[in-house]
Amino acid sequence: MQAQIDQYTAEINAFSPANADELEAFRIKFLGTKGIIKDLFEQFKSVSPEEKRTFGKVLNEFKQLAEAKYNELKENIGSGPQSKGNDLDLTLPGDGFIVGSRHPLSLVRNEIIDIFKRLGFVVAEGPEIEDDWHNFSALNFPDEHPARDMQDTFFIKKNNGKDDIALRTHTSSVQVRMMEAGKPPFRAIMPGRVYRNEAISARAHCFFHQVEGLYVDENVSFSDLKQTLYHFVQELYGEGTRVRFRPSYFPFTEPSAEMDISCTICGGAGCNMCKHSGWVEILGCGMVDPNVLENCGIDSKKYTGFAFGMGMERIANLKYVIRDLRLFSENDVRFLKQFQTEIL
Ligand code: DAH
Repeated sequence: MQAQIDQYTAEINAFSPANADELEAFRIKFLGTKGIIKDLFEQFKSVSPEEKRTFGKVLNEFKQLAEAKYNELKENIGSGPQSKGNDLDLTLPGDGFIVGSRHPLSLVRNEIIDIFKRLGFVVAEGPEIEDDWHNFSALNFPDEHPARDMQDTFFIKKNNGKDDIALRTHTSSVQVRMMEAGKPPFRAIMPGRVYRNEAISARAHCFFHQVEGLYVDENVSFSDLKQTLYHFVQELYGEGTRVRFRPSYFPFTEPSAEMDISCTICGGAGCNMCKHSGWVEILGCGMVDPNVLENCGIDSKKYTGFAFGMGMERIANLKYVIRDLRLFSENDVRFLKQFQTEIL
């Protein structure tokens, strides 16, 4: 028995658990109800009366050693995740961390791109500094069209119409660049920044963002346009969002329309956002005017197409209820932080 206790004593002294589980195993082995110490005390009963004194002392000291060791280790290791020791619980959820935030316009742009990519649209871009041809003339704007006026357009160089250079006033210019550079079919969306000479207020800005869409192929019809945009709206604002088309006019489309959706805020019941009409306009669209196709070197007898253009701020506004356009460009962290995501 003495030899056994000596061996256990050495074992206890050398014991150094790597985690709480090992310490618990130690407790069960030595101090548990079926543990070694209990067993030794059982054996002690049959020790001869002469030896009882010495062994009793040895046994008690051994028990105290085991208990002291256990208590000391428990202090250090603890039992929870806040333990001071090297106890590591890999099953606990991690601490999330905050990365920077995406700008709401980027969130909206990425979402729009995702939806149209699934329909086979590619993404195209064009320059923000444009010539008169791509921004106006090729798009069938008459010479005297008011949009060419100094009031609306930021001209960089005024050379009597044809050779004017300006900041593009819409992303429709990218349509022209795309059609000039390639052969049909075309199926693309074109996001980008556009500029207009407007006084900055909550509702107008001198620059904003648009997404242009173009689909040109044989036999493209107005029903393709309607179905594509209907699908887009269901994806972006949810199933059940209603759409309606109102006749309109753009120089580069014939026929032209504006598309409204049932108000995303009140669901059509009427609120401030939809000026109590239940509908909000989100884009302009139409069948590409044959003149535009011809201007870009495309046979308008063989090919037809549809186009659409929407303001990204408007789309974001309806998604996030951002009532002041200036917030998009002020980079106020209190605004941007609201779009922050936590990464786990
Ligand atoms: N370019 C127009 C604008 O700036 C938007 C637009 C309307 C684009 C109809 C289109 C279209 O492609 O078909 O307001």
